[in-house]
Amino acid sequence: MHARAVAATTTVLLGATLLSPTSARAAAAHTRPQVVAHRGASAYAPENTLPAIDRAAALGIPWVENDVQRTKDGVLVVVHDDSLRRTTDVEQVFPGRAPWKVKDFTAAEIARLDAGSWFGHAYARTRVPTLAQYMRRVERNHQKLLLEIKNPELYPGIERQTLKLLGNEGWLDRRHLDGRLIVQSFSAGSLRIVHDLKPGVTTGFLGRPEPGDLHGYAGFADLINPSHGTLSAAYVSAVHAFTGPHGRRLRVFAWTVDDATRARTVAGYGADGIITDKPDVVRDALNRP
Ligand code: G3P
Ligand code: CA
Repeated sequence: MHARAVAATTTVLLGATLLSPTSARAAAAHTRPQVVAHRGASAYAPENTLPAIDRAAALGIPWVENDVQRTKDGVLVVVHDDSLRRTTDVEQVFPGRAPWKVKDFTAAEIARLDAGSWFGHAYARTRVPTLAQYMRRVERNHQKLLLEIKNPELYPGIERQTLKLLGNEGWLDRRHLDGRLIVQSFSAGSLRIVHDLKPGVTTGFLGRPEPGDLHGYAGFADLINPSHGTLSAAYVSAVHAFTGPHGRRLRVFAWTVDDATRARTVAGYGADGIITDKPDVVRDALNRP
């Protein structure tokens, strides 16, 4: 059993004489990493679509992750690649428009694309959601969002625009800021902009800064989110030693972990969150160590 799991078990056992069963369960749950459905439950439904977050909701997973980019006419949309080619039928619909970059298509053109058939017939005619549509579905599902600003260097001003949309959708009030929204990016510059514009927003840096550089990140990032393959218990401890911009311990969400054994290992390192295409697999692995 991993050290963290031992610690968690010990806490619960010791706590049994002091805590009510409900409190003990809450304490145990607190030590378990948060499970985040990567691009929605993307092993089971086409990534970054409304069915993918509905599928996460149906599995009982509150946290979903997405990727936000911008169309030629300035509409924020939810899609991972900077090209529409892999996850839509854009090649068939607009054959003369290679390399089919998101930034070269209008929102009306993107709305015509099928973003589901590549994944399976059952998802034919699924659309690339606008961020506004996506936020309404997350809200309707009572879910929480890890929103990634993707390729911000391609979209000047996307940070301000994203925050404006989040505000318009009611996602920048205390109820949402306190535990329902994290904005993350591979770009430290983009994250700094988000933090400067709306200091109340929880932010996550995607990557693995050297431990000696973490103090700089702690000025504008509440989380450090590395690829799971780069993670170790020592690195998680190094991150946890810092306090973030909101006065709380820096947290670590690791990506992308899709199997039970690896999920338990990463949990044993002390990670606070696990981002996964198979949230049910990871959730079940963490529930039965
Ligand atoms: O949330 C972490 C993960 O989404 C980062 O990688 O390429 O899937 O956006 P990517
Ligand atoms: Ca992402």
